[in-house]
Amino acid sequence: MKIAAIFGSPNTRGSSSELHEIFLSASERAGITVMRIHAYQSNIMPCTDCGICRTENRCIHDDDMNEVYEHIRSADALTISSPVYFSSLPGPLKNLIDRCQLFWEARKRNPNPPRKRPAYFLATAGSLYPQVFSPSLTIIRHFYNSLDFVFNEKDFFLLAGLDKLGTVPKESREKLVLAGNDFAQTIMNVFEK
Ligand SMILES: Cc1cc2nc3c(=O)[nH]c(=O)nc-3n(C[C@H](O)[C@H](O)[C@H](O)COP(=O)(O)O)c2cc1C
Repeated sequence: MKIAAIFGSPNTRGSSSELHEIFLSASERAGITVMRIHAYQSNIMPCTDCGICRTENRCIHDDDMNEVYEHIRSADALTISSPVYFSSLPGPLKNLIDRCQLFWEARKRNPNPPRKRPAYFLATAGSLYPQVFSPSLTIIRHFYNSLDFVFNEKDFFLLAGLDKLGTVPKESREKLVLAGNDFAQTIMNVFEK
């Protein structure tokens, strides 16, 4: 069993990565392999709408996305963490997501029954204004729905106001330990079916 875990922050020790690691720890303890993908450490060109993936199962770019495609294809579950940048997702993570147009096109040509793989999203924001996570959530929901991942209303953890908080509060860590346990259990249940 394998989780592909995509980290969207340039800060490998930042708040969203910290939340993500807490969330993944139960899965690792349960023996699930976690394949970490750091968007900022990957060489991923932006999608140029060349159109090749409309007819062929390949991308015109030859870069680190080749490996990411394989990790996403072979994963039993997918998790994404990200900070909010200008009310949305940071560029390198958005590039990675846009390059998954290849999966969307492949599914349009060949609509197989969905694999119903579990998914989760974790995000942090410096401020605390209304709808601070809305654009990011819309993108992530669209992304998971376009690939064959199940993303329900309970499948995310959002922490705003970090500029004032300074660090991730203890209650957030505790909640995430529980959410991580549930996620590990969900993956095992899907796998056992
Ligand atoms: C380029 C940039 C843009 C940002 N834009 C926003 C924003 O629009 N809204 C917000 O609440 N915080 C914004 N922030 C603050 C980050 O979302 C916040 O510091 C976050 O917790 C960082 O997460 P990390 O430690 O995982 O990198 C921005 C930070 C940067 C560097």
